[in-house]
Amino acid sequence: MSAPMVVVGSLNMDLVARAPHIPQPGETIIGRDFHVLPGGKGANQAVAAARLGGRVALIGRVGEDAFATPLLANLAAAGVDHTYVTRDREAATGVALIVVSDSGQNSIVVASGANGRLTAADVATAVAAFTGRGVLLLQLETPIETVTHAARLARVRGWTVILNPAPAQPLPAELLALVDVLVPNETETALLTGLPVGDLAEAAAAAQALRQSGAPTVILTLGERGALLATEDGAQIYPAFEVQVVDTTAAGDAFVAGFAVALAEGGFLPQAVRWGNAAGALATTKLGAQPSLPTRRELEEFLAGRLGTKDH
Ligand code: RIB
Repeated sequence: MSAPMVVVGSLNMDLVARAPHIPQPGETIIGRDFHVLPGGKGANQAVAAARLGGRVALIGRVGEDAFATPLLANLAAAGVDHTYVTRDREAATGVALIVVSDSGQNSIVVASGANGRLTAADVATAVAAFTGRGVLLLQLETPIETVTHAARLARVRGWTVILNPAPAQPLPAELLALVDVLVPNETETALLTGLPVGDLAEAAAAAQALRQSGAPTVILTLGERGALLATEDGAQIYPAFEVQVVDTTAAGDAFVAGFAVALAEGGFLPQAVRWGNAAGALATTKLGAQPSLPTRRELEEFLAGRLGTKDH
């Protein structure tokens, strides 16, 4: 039986244009197709975890506008409890403007709207979601005071706190001390440590530096190089699965969710990182954030198909 999971985080409607490349500053380019797709790091992680078999509640905020309804419907369709997603009368639902290049890379601008008004009081109102022992997933598209409050509330109840520090920003020491597992990507690691992550030795040193700042377990997601797990026992790389990349949007969210679901089911760190790698890889094979997030069955079939291969 899986432990309960709570995600405190953002919901965005993603406005996605595909283009030959990501435009430079001052450059206008002619794109290809355009899509309106559900996203937001918090909602993505909640949907991903639910599709992978987690029992998930999301705490968040949307506006009272046309984007809110399909976002909530998508959560419900995935099996996410959105009782604690409130409607804000004064702010619009979050929007992300995304360009996806032919090579699958992206650039994203988020207009936070209601996400920026998620308060510690909203989290306190949802305290009933933190029953038993579970896993809390946090990111940084909602105010850091709210994130810190949620981490505190979860920790005193014996929950495992996972922080995906995205988008990158300096982290208060108080928050870092409340985190069990920190999951940054390369950019976030460089910003948080001021250290390079060019090769694996540098990445390992940066991960250990992050551990010194508070979180006992650090996982650096390194894109096509895989994930580097750093604990008190040292650092180990888990290579990425090779797939045909269409769009990397939400690959990090899928990684965090895959990792967290494995932990919620009592899995050990190496298995959880492997699930994260598989979920992240699968998410890159389709366009969009939530449409690309794999189901439990897809994940299990993918892992079974890689048994005994060099990807294993
Ligand atoms: O991590 C991907 C997400 O970042 C997108 O869905 C977008 O909404 C932004 O929050």
